[in-house]
Amino acid sequence: MNNYSEKFEKMRIAGKLASRTLDMLTKEVKEGISTNKIDRLGYEFIRDNGGHSAPLYYRGFKKSLCTSLNHVVCHGVPSDRILIDGDAVNIDVTAIVNEYYGDTSRMFTIGDIPIKAKNLIETTYESMIRGIEILKPGINLGDIGYEIQSYVEEKGFSVVRDFCGHGISSTFHEQPNILHYGKKNTGHKITAGMTFTIEPMINAGKLDVKVLNDGWTAVTKDKSLSAQFEHTIGITENGYEIFTESIKGYSKPPY
Ligand code: MF3
Ligand code: CO
Ligand code: CO
Repeated sequence: MNNYSEKFEKMRIAGKLASRTLDMLTKEVKEGISTNKIDRLGYEFIRDNGGHSAPLYYRGFKKSLCTSLNHVVCHGVPSDRILIDGDAVNIDVTAIVNEYYGDTSRMFTIGDIPIKAKNLIETTYESMIRGIEILKPGINLGDIGYEIQSYVEEKGFSVVRDFCGHGISSTFHEQPNILHYGKKNTGHKITAGMTFTIEPMINAGKLDVKVLNDGWTAVTKDKSLSAQFEHTIGITENGYEIFTESIKGYSKPPY
């Protein structure tokens, strides 16, 4: 036992509901479904399993999850847009259970996607994993960014700077910011009991992003493809725990 075991137990429960929601959606995210339908299915699943969706009414957001398609970097708003062959979409779910938050996202692909899109998705997933695998007390936040940025740039892709991971527990977004780029041995020290997300947004083209007039949808300025994965993580005495791991073993496409 330690002074964060109760917090971690709550994070586990919220994280598991968020990841189970993505697991449930996996068989639904196929050609012909609208992103509004995905939103509704997510809303209902979370509600029926003892939680509620954090995005709904968050700072005026009107949907229960984010669906970010193709050149959308993040915060894509579900709509009547139907998924078609060749689409790559990130679905980002945040569940609240007993006041605690679990935040996770994965990429989904529809039918055949170009090899460059597959490479981008693979690289984005692997960069998140590299950022996670170094986690333990005593390292610095900049070490996470360094792992992600160096891996991604080696592959010829770029790391979005305008959005970052975040502390999370009984509030959705809290300190510290988790940058997905950076230098080794810089930034705050990581300590046991910290809980935060790692959620790199990686572009096939340039890193520049703009937000559309809806105030939410962030897109790449050069219209290049963007990918993202997200886990909610806790720092333990010797390492880390991922609260949002798929119980079905769904990590990245193909599922
Ligand atoms: N889930 C996003 C994150 O990873 C935040 C979405 S805020 C919303 O931090 F309002 F757009 F849903
Ligand atoms: Co997040
Ligand atoms: Co999220």
